[in-house]
Amino acid sequence: MPISTIEWKSSHVRIIDQTKLPSRFAIINLKNIRQLWKAIKTLQVRGAPALGAAGALGAYLGIKDSKAKNWKQFKHQLKKVIGYLSTSRPTAVNLFWALKRIEETANKNKQKSVNEIKEIILEEAKRILREDKDLCRRLSKHGARLIKNGDALLTHCNAGALATVDFGTALGVMYQAKHQGKKFKVYADETRPLLQGARLTTWELMREKIDVTLICDNMAALLMKQGMVNKIFVGADRIAANGDAANKIGTYSLACLAHHHKIPFYVIAPTSTMDTSLKTGNDIPIEHRGRNEVIRWGNRITAPLKVKVYNPAFDVTPAKLITAIVTEKGIFKPNKLSKDNSK
Ligand code: MRU
Repeated sequence: MPISTIEWKSSHVRIIDQTKLPSRFAIINLKNIRQLWKAIKTLQVRGAPALGAAGALGAYLGIKDSKAKNWKQFKHQLKKVIGYLSTSRPTAVNLFWALKRIEETANKNKQKSVNEIKEIILEEAKRILREDKDLCRRLSKHGARLIKNGDALLTHCNAGALATVDFGTALGVMYQAKHQGKKFKVYADETRPLLQGARLTTWELMREKIDVTLICDNMAALLMKQGMVNKIFVGADRIAANGDAANKIGTYSLACLAHHHKIPFYVIAPTSTMDTSLKTGNDIPIEHRGRNEVIRWGNRITAPLKVKVYNPAFDVTPAKLITAIVTEKGIFKPNKLSKDNSK
C-alpha cells in the first residue's frame, strides 16, 4: 500500500520524519519555509521526487503571507524564496525542476491579483504532487516487466514510497511485480553513511511483505560472485542528456560490479529527474555533507574526532554501465533516453 510521504494540509506541509524511522513513525508539520528548508537539509524529507514536491509546497509556504501590493513586489519575493530553497540540496534536479515550474506558473499569471497568484501557486504545487503519484505508478508498470519469478534483486539507498510522494520508483517496480503475483527476493544495501537502505528500504519492503535481506554495502561483490543476485534496481537524482545518472554514493561501485559479473543494472526514475541541459554526468553538482555523518552514529563516536573526512553524498554512474533506464514513458537504452523522452 502507498505511504503518504508528503502532503499539503490546509495551512502546512505534513511529512513523515524519515530520520526517526524505523524505530518511530513520526509525522511532523512544517509551518514555514525555514522549517521546510531544514527538513530537506537534514533529510527528514528526502529522495529526488519527494524533494520536488517539498520544493513546490515550500515555495507556497514562502509566499503565502506575502503583503506584496503588485506583481513587481511579489515577483521579487518569489525569486528570493526560490533562491533560498535552491540552497538546501544541490543534486536532485527534481527540486529545481519543481521550483522552475512554480516560477513559470506565477509568470504566466502575472496579470492576476497577488492573492490569485498565491492560490495558483498552491494549485500548481498540489498538481506536482498528484503527477508524481501518477508517474511512479506508470513507470512501475513498465519496470515490473523486467522482474521474473525467482529473481534475486539488489537495491541501494531508498527509492521507495518514502523517496517520492507516495509510491516509489525502484521499489515501486517491486510493489507492482508483487501485485502481479511474481515471486522474487530483494537484497538491500545498508547505504552508508546515513543508512537509507537499512532504515527505510527494509522497513518499506517488510511492510509490503516482500522477502528482503539486509547486507552491508561491502558485501555486494561477494553476493554477485556467488550468483545470489541477478538484477539490480536503483533510483536516480539527476540524469544527464547522455544517460549518465547520479544517485546515492555507492551506486557507481554497484554498477562496476554488475558490469564485471554481467548482471543487468537498471535505473528507474520519472522524467522529472532528467536534466537535458547537462550533456554528461560530469556536470552534475554533487552534494558534500558534514563530517559528523561519517565519524558519529547518534551519540556514538565511530572514528577519531579529528580525522580528515571526505563525504560526497552522490556519485555518477556512466551510461555505458546502465542496461536500461525506466521512466513513465517506457524502458530505454540510456543513449536513447533524451530523444525518446522529450516527446
Ligand atoms: O540523500 P537521499 O536519501 O535524498 O538520496 C536519495 C537517493 O539517492 C535515491 O536513490 C534517489 O533520490 C532516487 S528516489 C526515487
